[in-house]
Amino acid sequence: MKRLNCALIVGLLASPAVAADGKAVHDAVCYKCHRTGVDDAPKTGNKEHWAPRLTQGLPALYQAVLEGKGAMDPRAGREELTDEELKAGVDYLVGLVK
Ligand code: HEC
Repeated sequence: MKRLNCALIVGLLASPAVAADGKAVHDAVCYKCHRTGVDDAPKTGNKEHWAPRLTQGLPALYQAVLEGKGAMDPRAGREELTDEELKAGVDYLVGLVK
């Protein structure tokens, strides 16, 4: 699993010209916490968990991941990810619970 994550991240970094792939970002980085809901992270695909978050609007959700929130580090702890990739990760998570 670890090897797979690395491969995905290398793949992301190797193709900066391609539009960020939110699912790839999520599966490589965000899933680690959002799958299990560790530290009260809203779970991937759980509408109940996400409903109160969505009311803040997308800009606030982008800001949370860019600047960090609670137990989530700024940039989800991944300095190497671009703003576009982080936002694509948010778009993917939000798209699952709309
Ligand atoms: C280290 C664990 C961890 C990782 C990795 C992580 N998150 Fe989170 N995330 C959290 C936690 C914990 C919260 C709840 C924070 C709070 O409200 O106190 C959260 C909350 C959020 C929220 C809601 C913020 C809000 O204002 O309600 C979004 C959006 C989000 N994460 C997106 C992402 C994306 C996109 C990624 C991957 C690029 C990611 N997270 C990676 C732990 C993580």
